[in-house]
Amino acid sequence: MFLLLCFMSYVKWRTQILKVIRKMKKGFIRGIGAISEGFTILGIMTRQIRDGKKNPELQFFDFESIVSATNNFAEDCKLGQGGFGPVYKGVLGDGLEVAIKRLSKNSGQGLEFKNETILIAKLQHTNLVRLIGCCIDREEKLLVYEYMPNKSLDSFLFDSEKKLILDWDKRFHIIQGIVQGLLYLHYYSRVRKIHRDLKVSNILLDNEMNAKISDFGMARVFKPSEHEANTSRVVGTYGYISPEYAMEGIFSIKSDVYSFGILLLEIITGKKNYNNYDTERPLNLIGYAWELWVNGRGEELIDSDFCNSDQKPKVLRCIHVGLLCVQQAPADRPTMLDVYLMINNDSTQVLPPKQPAFFISQNPNSSELEPEVVDSGRLIRPAQPPQEICSLSTMSVSVMVAR
Ligand SMILES: *[C@@H]1O[C@H](CO)[C@@H](O)[C@H](O)[C@H]1NC(C)=O
Ligand SMILES: *[C@@H]1O[C@H](CO)[C@@H](O)[C@H](O)[C@H]1NC(C)=O
Ligand SMILES: *[C@@H]1O[C@H](CO)[C@@H](O)[C@H](O)[C@H]1NC(C)=O
Ligand SMILES: *[C@@H]1O[C@H](CO)[C@@H](O)[C@H](O)[C@H]1NC(C)=O
Repeated sequence: MFLLLCFMSYVKWRTQILKVIRKMKKGFIRGIGAISEGFTILGIMTRQIRDGKKNPELQFFDFESIVSATNNFAEDCKLGQGGFGPVYKGVLGDGLEVAIKRLSKNSGQGLEFKNETILIAKLQHTNLVRLIGCCIDREEKLLVYEYMPNKSLDSFLFDSEKKLILDWDKRFHIIQGIVQGLLYLHYYSRVRKIHRDLKVSNILLDNEMNAKISDFGMARVFKPSEHEANTSRVVGTYGYISPEYAMEGIFSIKSDVYSFGILLLEIITGKKNYNNYDTERPLNLIGYAWELWVNGRGEELIDSDFCNSDQKPKVLRCIHVGLLCVQQAPADRPTMLDVYLMINNDSTQVLPPKQPAFFISQNPNSSELEPEVVDSGRLIRPAQPPQEICSLSTMSVSVMVAR
């Protein structure tokens, strides 16, 4: 009996002891967790402090470090050739991969370039390619950007193999990214910016296929009160320039909205705007999209079978928004805020689109405007009046000759 009691109390005591040990263990682990968390936070903080010292808003590089980063501008480091000059992949001393844009030699004044660059560096958003720094050395002007491993959207969209990666979810994610980047530029950044050269090759993709808008070399800083500007020099890429800008040199946030509309149609159709879509008459993507849309055949615009039947209404809504963006009159076009609401809230009203402005290339092969003057990294071309206006069946078509 006594032994039994002893044994029972021993069992009770033992379970209690074990409980205490278990509790202690838990507490101890929690303690360790808190400590290691503390270290992580400390690590992040020190890293931020260190980076903050090392990277003010803009880093200035000396020419030698750029030369060594790009292996003296080696041909196999070259990523591409833009209107402003070649772009190279570089690896900085600390191992960071970057894209380095070497601007053409005759690109304007050093001080103006420096001021512009400091302004560009202030624009920071997840959907904009980050400018890390620049280098000014006598004739040489270089811009150092974060490196985007998945290159630009056109390398996926217009490639018969790679476009298959882009299902509707990915395409919509990319569209959302571009919308966010433009919202920031137009409304939320410290300096209101109009991009002025929005196009599919200026949408870069990071390793998670997030869209990042690149190339602010041509963007122009706007005073908050200024809504529209009048310029005698047209800057931009053929096929994406809004009619009022190409013909009268007037640009506003609505000229970016126009380019965005083209981009939206290109993302959904997988077709380039400046190509011709009729064998008998000049018809670009906008004209083609408009004709199908007004005849209730909008579904034919959807590129291959990237979406299922549940997603189709959303895709059609995006085509609709794209057509609203490319309307002739800037006042009819939505703002990027309207675009955001229309594509994200299915109960937002979407008006029927009016007939868009048609710009038809006589030479579909010359997709980009040739730079005529390059001024502080901006591609500049004198405004040209339309050369010919012709009427085709129900629509009037403005034919703008590239040169
Ligand atoms: C560059 O910025 C400085 C200071 O903000 C200003 O004084 C100067 O006039 C600017 N120069 C040019 C060419 O824009
Ligand atoms: C590029 O995109 C592909 C496809 O989504 C993805 O698997 C890959 O991780 C991305 N990054 C690189 C560096 O290729
Ligand atoms: C733009 O400038 C030109 C020439 O300076 C002028 O004729 C035209 O009326 C202006 N347009 C607007 C909208 O201010
Ligand atoms: C969507 O739009 C409708 C109509 O404009 C509005 O009543 C509703 O609150 C919006 N929904 C969200 C989630 O914003």
